[in-house]
Amino acid sequence: MASNIILLGPPGAGKGTQAELTVEKLDVPHIATGDILRTAVSEGTELGLKARKYMDAGDLVPDELVVQIVRDRLKQADCADGFVLDGFPRTIEQAEALDEALGELETTKPLVVNMQVDDEILVKRLSGRRMCDNCGAIFHISRDDVESGDTCPKPDCDGTIYQRSDDRPEAIRQRLAVYKEQTEPLIQYYNGKGQLVEVDASDSIERVNDTVMAALRDRGIG
Ligand code: AP5
Repeated sequence: MASNIILLGPPGAGKGTQAELTVEKLDVPHIATGDILRTAVSEGTELGLKARKYMDAGDLVPDELVVQIVRDRLKQADCADGFVLDGFPRTIEQAEALDEALGELETTKPLVVNMQVDDEILVKRLSGRRMCDNCGAIFHISRDDVESGDTCPKPDCDGTIYQRSDDRPEAIRQRLAVYKEQTEPLIQYYNGKGQLVEVDASDSIERVNDTVMAALRDRGIG
């Protein structure tokens, strides 16, 4: 059985943070559509040029662009024993396309970990988030001694710390609204298929990871 996992949850729930910890323990790839799109934007590729306006506004990039990226990525050899999907699917159309792609690959149905956090905490997490433009590490100004413009504190990384353009207050509000309208219906979609497990993600990073790993073990993963 492949360790196929989807981390579902609102912006700032900690999907990226938990994905990094989880892939380290399970030795499977972390596939984050947000990271793939941000790289395309910073490299100025055709995909990046198309995606930028949606991302800056806090809206979803059109399904057809994102679905193709994930379809191609899942076919790669390193996904044979599993993967952690972070930020995909985000619409029912994307979930249906994923079901089809995984069916074609004849792999295990993914376990969907739904990470629940109240809006007030999400806004605090997002507005204080800082990232490295080289290694992609995720920081928070309340916990880590970093600010925009600093050199990344990770060993062997000389990247620069920055604040994401969609972590401005207007974009955060829009992303939360888009989540509720377009992504939250996935909770029912996956619950109906018996693939959903709920996790309280408002606790500390380490405690949330303990809960996630325990939920995975309960379902025979890890
Ligand atoms: P994406 O990058 O996927 O953003 P998101 O889903 O909005 O999620 P975030 O990355 O903001 O949050 P997260 O849950 O990963 O939290 P994190 O771990 O960083 O997407 C960006 C954009 O790309 C979208 O708006 C859209 O335009 C486009 N896009 C991407 N995928 C798409 C798709 N499938 N379809 C269409 N468009 C798509 O943590 C946040 C902060 O909280 C950090 O500072 C972290 O240190 C802190 N933190 C995390 N966990 C904890 C904890 N337990 N306690 C305290 N602090 C914590």
